[in-house]
Amino acid sequence: MEYKHWTIKRDDDNICWLLFDYQDASTNILSTESLNELNDILDNIDTSDTLAVIFKSLKKSGFIAGANIKEFVDKNYDDALQMITLGHTVMNKIEALECNTISLIHGFSMGGGTELSLACNYIICSDDTSTKLALPEVKLGIHPGFGGSYRSIRRIGPLAAFDMMLTGRTINTRRAKNLKLIDEVTAHRQLDKAGIAFAHKKFRRPKQSLQNQILNNAFIRGFIANKIAKKVSSKAPKKHYPAPYKLIRLWKKYYDNPVKMLEKEAESVAELVSDKTAQNLVRVYFLQEQLKTTGDKKLFKPQHVHVIGGGIMGGDIAAWCALKGFQVSVQDQDPATLAKTIARAYKLFKKRLKSSRLTTNAMDRLTADHKGYGVEHADIIIEAIFEDADVKKELYKSIEPRMKKDAILVTNTSSIPLEVLSTSLKNPGRLVGLHFFNPVALMPLVEIVHGKESDKKTIDKVSAFARHIDKLPLAVKSSPGFLVNRILMPYLLEAMIMYTEGVPAETIDMAALDFGMPMGPIELADTVGLDVCLSVAKNLSETYNTTVPPQLEHMVSTGHLGKKNGKGFYTYHNSKAQKNTTATYNSNSNIQQRLILMLINEATACLRDKVVENENLLDAGVIFGTGFAPFRGGPINYIHDAGKHELQVSMDILKSELGDRFTQDNGWNLV
Ligand code: NAI
Repeated sequence: MEYKHWTIKRDDDNICWLLFDYQDASTNILSTESLNELNDILDNIDTSDTLAVIFKSLKKSGFIAGANIKEFVDKNYDDALQMITLGHTVMNKIEALECNTISLIHGFSMGGGTELSLACNYIICSDDTSTKLALPEVKLGIHPGFGGSYRSIRRIGPLAAFDMMLTGRTINTRRAKNLKLIDEVTAHRQLDKAGIAFAHKKFRRPKQSLQNQILNNAFIRGFIANKIAKKVSSKAPKKHYPAPYKLIRLWKKYYDNPVKMLEKEAESVAELVSDKTAQNLVRVYFLQEQLKTTGDKKLFKPQHVHVIGGGIMGGDIAAWCALKGFQVSVQDQDPATLAKTIARAYKLFKKRLKSSRLTTNAMDRLTADHKGYGVEHADIIIEAIFEDADVKKELYKSIEPRMKKDAILVTNTSSIPLEVLSTSLKNPGRLVGLHFFNPVALMPLVEIVHGKESDKKTIDKVSAFARHIDKLPLAVKSSPGFLVNRILMPYLLEAMIMYTEGVPAETIDMAALDFGMPMGPIELADTVGLDVCLSVAKNLSETYNTTVPPQLEHMVSTGHLGKKNGKGFYTYHNSKAQKNTTATYNSNSNIQQRLILMLINEATACLRDKVVENENLLDAGVIFGTGFAPFRGGPINYIHDAGKHELQVSMDILKSELGDRFTQDNGWNLV
């Protein structure tokens, strides 16, 4: 029998090789179609005549990327349950085969791929650095749904399995072998041979270690489960992210009865898939994929990157580019700043690269360049000096004659339109905005700002560069504040207004965290720098209907610059905000509403002004540029979910109580 996605080969040892090659795709996925085929294949395997079944991918890219996420979109409970039950049927059949079952993994094995392997007797991996395993479902608002929750715990014990399932992190083969998640690691070219050797082994399921027997014991499980849930709650509150809690509960209630646990796992995932959180997180996943396709890496790859300004942003941008393999020089007028830049870069390399050899190599790629010799050699120059149009223009004028003919100049300005900055250039088309977010190492977005004069080819090259350094490029129109800062600023200013009204900083921040923001607006303002906030606020107030709070001006003029000098709305010790732990937040107050409505009102204004092409890109920009509660799917999606009419009524009430800044923008009509 011929199949579309699977090929069956029998060898002389009576081994049945199931070769997976998903048609018309670069990666293998467990879609309904490929699962149905596998189901049929398994029904027809004559195990009396078979020594072993070996699963192997024919794709270069990896083993299996997981279930077909597209099939999760807009699924109701019954449809979701049907899809998941099919996955369960297939995995149960693999486990029940009366012959050896082996999974050979080369490259990534994600989600459903790892679950399929867990249903096999043996898992053998290639020692290639690309070989990695994960159960990342939690990132999509669900948990393993093809039997992986039970089988991972059975194989590696609850603590290691929960660590994998609750963080979604990928693990390499060395760690996987230590955990006993996999049975063998071998050179890629020996993978088939290892499979054949294991086919001849007599399988006996390994006994659980004493520690895991104790942890899985019904009397202890409840206690451990509560502890794990408590730890999770500090990062992912239950009301926003239900999946981890459902997963922990499955183990707590049903681990002694595997059949029941698998059945309940399917129901639990079906409930989650059809719920808003997962639907929004799946949407965010696709938005991320969309942004990834924006830059074509083939178009441009610089040999040398030069960064001017080694402060908070320039220093971190230079370090990030060196981390990603580029030769980088970083220039600052102040040698002491450069010393700090290099020290910070060392910390980043050590943390991320975890190897002294790789850290030394990265350090070798980064040069402190006080005099700016790198200007002449660079293919791309990233300017990140003070947010002052005249200072920036003066710099451009001085460096342009020294730049290579085709070199690109990008600015990290937060808010100054390119048309203002490019006036000092002989070739204004070479200037594009490449706007990073703070902290550079954590925020995935970069705004690619194109002015009226920016050259189209240069814009494409800058997007290509963004992909080389693993950032998500978003094309935005050059208008004050671009997309992210424009939307963020009214929200930050509203927080400052409340602060001046006497609401404690901690309470304001708690209201935002309660909505699902990763950091409150007051702490965010301190982190960005109050001087930067002030100059962005001033730039925006010239164009839009906003006023700069006198409190902000006063703080900056009295040397309160935020986290960078330890004095902002909060004081900082060792970079940690000193907060009053007794502060409380009452969800019946209008604090959260004031913050969020200011933000989404500005989001509609950006739609109206066509700062980005469409509302999907707007949501993507705000999520990846600010960390806006991902489970809410972005500000425009939030309007749809929360109800446009209800939010408009709230806007009107706030307007009557607090003034015209709550006037609805005409952009609401476009949502
Ligand atoms: P910063 O004040 O920490 O650093 C600026 C650095 O530029 C200083 O070290 C200064 O010595 C150096 N500098 C100034 N003029 C120079 C010149 N002519 N030649 C060489 N070096 C010079 O400022 P920060 O926060 O790093 O901001 C830099 C740029 O990035 C600004 O345009 C800002 O709007 C933008 N930005 C800032 C963000 C933030 O969160 N702080 C976020 C995104 C963009």
